[in-house]
Amino acid sequence: SRRRTAPTLSTTLSSLLLLLATTTTKLCRSCSDGERHALLRRIQPLIGPEFSSSGRLDWDEAVDCCRWEGVTCSVAGRRREAAAGGRRVVSLSLPGVGIAGAVDAAVLAPFTALEKLDLSGNQITSFSAANRSDMVVGAVLNNLTALTELHLAGNEITTTGWISNLTSLQVIDMSSNKVHELNGICGLHQLKYLSLGFNMIQGVINPCLGKLQYLVYLDMGSNFLTGEIGQYLLSNLTQVEEVHLGDNNLTGTFDFSSLANNSELHSIVLSNNCKLEIETELVRWTPLFQLEYLNLSNSIVNKRSNGIIPTFLSAQVSLSGIDLSICSLQGRIPSWMLLYNVSLGFLLLRGNSMDFLDTGNLGANVTSSMEVLDLSDNRISMKMPYNFGSLFPYLKYLDMSSNMLNGGVPSLAEAASSLQFLDLSFNMLNGEISPELIGNASILTSLLLSHNDLTGPMPPFHWSLGQLTHLSVENNQLSGRLPPLLTNCTNLENLNVRNNRLSGVIPVGLLSFEKLGALLLGGNQFHGVIPWDICLNNHIHFIDLSNNWFSGEIQVAYTVFSGQSCQ
Ligand SMILES: *[C@@H]1O[C@H](CO)[C@@H](O)[C@H](O)[C@H]1NC(C)=O
Ligand SMILES: *[C@@H]1O[C@H](CO)[C@@H](O)[C@H](O)[C@H]1NC(C)=O
Ligand SMILES: *[C@@H]1O[C@H](CO)[C@@H](O)[C@H](O)[C@H]1NC(C)=O
Ligand SMILES: *[C@@H]1O[C@H](CO)[C@@H](O)[C@H](O)[C@H]1NC(C)=O
Ligand SMILES: *[C@@H]1O[C@H](CO)[C@@H](O)[C@H](O)[C@H]1NC(C)=O
Ligand SMILES: *[C@@H]1O[C@H](CO)[C@@H](O)[C@H](O)[C@H]1NC(C)=O
Ligand SMILES: *[C@@H]1O[C@H](CO)[C@@H](O)[C@H](O)[C@H]1NC(C)=O
Ligand SMILES: *[C@@H]1O[C@H](CO)[C@@H](O)[C@H](O)[C@H]1NC(C)=O
Ligand SMILES: *[C@@H]1O[C@H](CO)[C@@H](O)[C@H](O)[C@H]1NC(C)=O
Ligand SMILES: *[C@@H]1O[C@H](CO)[C@@H](O)[C@H](O)[C@H]1NC(C)=O
Ligand SMILES: *[C@@H]1O[C@H](CO)[C@@H](O)[C@H](O)[C@H]1NC(C)=O
Repeated sequence: SRRRTAPTLSTTLSSLLLLLATTTTKLCRSCSDGERHALLRRIQPLIGPEFSSSGRLDWDEAVDCCRWEGVTCSVAGRRREAAAGGRRVVSLSLPGVGIAGAVDAAVLAPFTALEKLDLSGNQITSFSAANRSDMVVGAVLNNLTALTELHLAGNEITTTGWISNLTSLQVIDMSSNKVHELNGICGLHQLKYLSLGFNMIQGVINPCLGKLQYLVYLDMGSNFLTGEIGQYLLSNLTQVEEVHLGDNNLTGTFDFSSLANNSELHSIVLSNNCKLEIETELVRWTPLFQLEYLNLSNSIVNKRSNGIIPTFLSAQVSLSGIDLSICSLQGRIPSWMLLYNVSLGFLLLRGNSMDFLDTGNLGANVTSSMEVLDLSDNRISMKMPYNFGSLFPYLKYLDMSSNMLNGGVPSLAEAASSLQFLDLSFNMLNGEISPELIGNASILTSLLLSHNDLTGPMPPFHWSLGQLTHLSVENNQLSGRLPPLLTNCTNLENLNVRNNRLSGVIPVGLLSFEKLGALLLGGNQFHGVIPWDICLNNHIHFIDLSNNWFSGEIQVAYTVFSGQSCQ
């Protein structure tokens, strides 16, 4: 039999709270009848059945509408609320709830106190009115005089003309839609944030954007913009902090010094405008801005100044990242670029024609905070600085492949605790690899040294590379056996030691690595029998054992030839 207990203190307390809550709801009125009615009868029917039937957006009439999911009301007790017969809906947030097609703008008209509307991630194609003209839609939306934020990212909207009457807007996010023109936007003088990236805007950037004097953020990246960036377009935006015009087809010459007085600018992306010529050296100028991020990759930089690295960067002390990949740059990488001791986290100069990395006048005690350095695919022709490791002790990612580096591979032991990716392949490095190359690095995932002239034994030497997934030393002159510690690299996915002078037998266990996908041992002097467990490994899809001294039978169960996978 059950023991009957007196009501505990906590149950008493919760009934009291419940009572209190009910009273409060009655005292403090819910949203106005007009808005409540519009939410239920006009907004809710727009929501996809899979969302409203799930209960989440099945707004319960018995509950105060200010507590419905997605609905936020003004603070109770203001006079104008009382006059309106209830609290007012100030924010309506219905992202990703299956609202599709043309939405009748009139459904929004009652929400005259609305400050923020978020309908991102739906399938809205337009805001319409009975006769579908932008003028009429504009007139309907005329009532939304408090609306400052409009979030419509990830819909299917094609035009913006209807937006022109929303003159209080400060934030428009219409990225990832199908917008193809800018009608109505330039008149929104309060605008601070305009995101139109990933749309289908064509033609020249409408110079009228230069009238948006409060604009802080402008994103028109990933559109189909063509023509020149108007000379005063950006310089007129004196408050602008971030500009994204990358991934378009902009052309002509952009004089970077025109931004000199944009003192707030900290991030600019003009990348992937492969015919855009960006000049930074046409005049003597001193920027008032301090950039944090600059991305000009895949454009043409300083064509008229021998492709030199923009010199204004030498006085930019807040940079955290520079991407100048594939910019037709030439000449030296100046030492000040490596001296960004303060903040620079990544420097990408891949795919240029840089020929020298100037570390000559850097003292031995200088260190850089760089984490990602990509100088691959240039013409850097020099020995790697012996103190590379101490210069860059925080490196996570170093790619200097496809250059003309010569001499030995320096020790990077100082970066051992951070280094994850090292690619020095396709150079002319020679000599033995120092056992201290990466110290006792334990988090290295890729070690790529192929296509050099390296001699001596192959890594890993005396340290355990438990995270190593890619190891390639193809096309060198390495000799000796496969290092015993290789069998500790159980995460290995690709092992490529082709075309060296390696010998010995394939160590037991190597072939049982669960993740091993490619095993390329061709063109060496390995001998002995081909281990029987080779085909027990389901992951291996590419094996090359050709041109070795293997002996014994090839099992009937499999055939192993260069470039063929097990069957
Ligand atoms: C609203 O927009 C229409 C056309 O877009 C325009 O004719 C009208 O003057 C605007 N009204 C206000 C108050 O701005
Ligand atoms: C279409 O819009 C015009 C301009 O506002 C208006 O005069 C007209 O009555 C509307 N037509 C219909 C069918 O709603
Ligand atoms: C604007 O709001 C008022 C009430 O505040 C309403 O009478 C009027 O019909 C609304 N206008 C439109 C176009 O919905
Ligand atoms: C520059 O901005 C001012 C207002 O700040 C505006 O009057 C002028 O038309 C703009 N010029 C351009 C070219 O956009
Ligand atoms: C740029 O133009 C080329 C043809 O000139 C076209 O193939 C490419 O798709 C265009 N890219 C963009 C982003 O518009
Ligand atoms: C920046 O402002 C200075 C001083 O007002 C002016 O002389 C200069 O021409 C301006 N530069 C640009 C690029 O607008
Ligand atoms: C620079 O922009 C390009 C595309 O425009 C992008 O692919 C690349 O990742 C960007 N670089 C960085 C470092 O973000
Ligand atoms: C960075 O280096 C510059 C030039 O060597 C020096 O003046 C500055 O004090 C350094 N800043 C920091 C934070 O180390
Ligand atoms: C580097 O060491 C030299 C002396 O060896 C010293 O004068 C200089 O200030 C040091 N620089 C830094 C940045 O510590
Ligand atoms: C690396 O590990 C070896 C063996 O565990 C040890 O003798 C050596 O001191 C270590 N080196 C560093 C730089 O930690
Ligand atoms: C390699 O693996 C063996 C067997 O698991 C272990 O005894 C040895 O300590 C490992 N070596 C290193 C350097 O981690």
